[in-house]
Amino acid sequence: MMKEFDFKRIPAPLLLWYNTHKRDLPWRENPTPYRVWVSEIMLQQTRVEAVKEYFARFITELPDVFALAVCEEEKLLKLWEGLGYYSRVRNLQKAAKVLVSVYGGEFPRDLAALKDLPGIGSYTAGAIASIAFGLPTPAVDGNVFRVAARLEENPTCIADPKYRQYLEERLSAVYPKSGEACSAFTQSLFELGALLCKPQNPDCAQCPLQDLCRARRNGTQALFPVMPEKKAKRQERVAVFLIETPEGFCIRRREEGVLRGMNELPSALLQDGETPEELLNEWGMYAFKEVARKKYAHIFTHIRWDITCVWVRAESAPFDTYSLEEIEDSISLPTAFKQCLGILKEV
Ligand code: ADE
Ligand code: SF4
Repeated sequence: MMKEFDFKRIPAPLLLWYNTHKRDLPWRENPTPYRVWVSEIMLQQTRVEAVKEYFARFITELPDVFALAVCEEEKLLKLWEGLGYYSRVRNLQKAAKVLVSVYGGEFPRDLAALKDLPGIGSYTAGAIASIAFGLPTPAVDGNVFRVAARLEENPTCIADPKYRQYLEERLSAVYPKSGEACSAFTQSLFELGALLCKPQNPDCAQCPLQDLCRARRNGTQALFPVMPEKKAKRQERVAVFLIETPEGFCIRRREEGVLRGMNELPSALLQDGETPEELLNEWGMYAFKEVARKKYAHIFTHIRWDITCVWVRAESAPFDTYSLEEIEDSISLPTAFKQCLGILKEV
């Protein structure tokens, strides 16, 4: 049986390093529960650099839970446009409504109560509780798994729920008692994973934990963490139409499939042998003139879309229409469709 790794040795050197190496990030100024929450939800599937702008705009437009709770859906989606995983922002608003109606607009200072809110799991609850409230609660994300798995050469797959639970318990046991240090410890683990203990080529020579690290000692960094096997993506052929009428461009709401409930440029899956023109016919459109077409791909978590984007002009169409200014300023359009608008500039 391998000797147990001593987690108690992590905080002191890591906190010392964090104090001098931490990045200035917008959400680290004035870390209220609201700001921490919004930033952590954004950071779950999106890179730090990309989040900065979205975060600033979101907080300016919706400065607190009260504003978020009553925000119109279209405005909310526009603030999230391009970030993807739109259920995140729908859950954000659902949780804001609960915070207003049940908690008077305050966040509960309690891990279990935080976890009960829509869209808030163990990770986000731990981040809010430690960063905003100074409670000794870990927030285990991909960075933290990577650092910890390498330190102790843990061979458990990070998708195994028992591993998350194990790591949360181990880290909880060595947290600083309370206050600013809890916030710093949570973020120091993110920071080490982001700056030094990177997925490829970790910078072990600079690492404050190098003397404890088993992967470093044995040269096994690349073997940890153990990730779940990647499933092949389902491939779909999709036709997306930029339909231009004298009244503007057609936009409609998606009723099914991926991005359900979002706006789209009229689009549909292409069956084997089916052409984009046939789809227009199915929608009752016969008189149209093709202006241009182009192909591009869009990758979702489980699906790859091979898109044929077709720009057509018609006198009328069976969908609502909007001007280009409206589309750019106030209609939220997921990236898969937004890319199609690029065709306007290329021709
Ligand atoms: N990744 C996830 N949360 C983060 C945070 N608060 N700061 C930096 N990177 C992060
Ligand atoms: Fe990661 Fe290397 Fe530090 Fe170990 S020594 S925690 S592998 S950066």
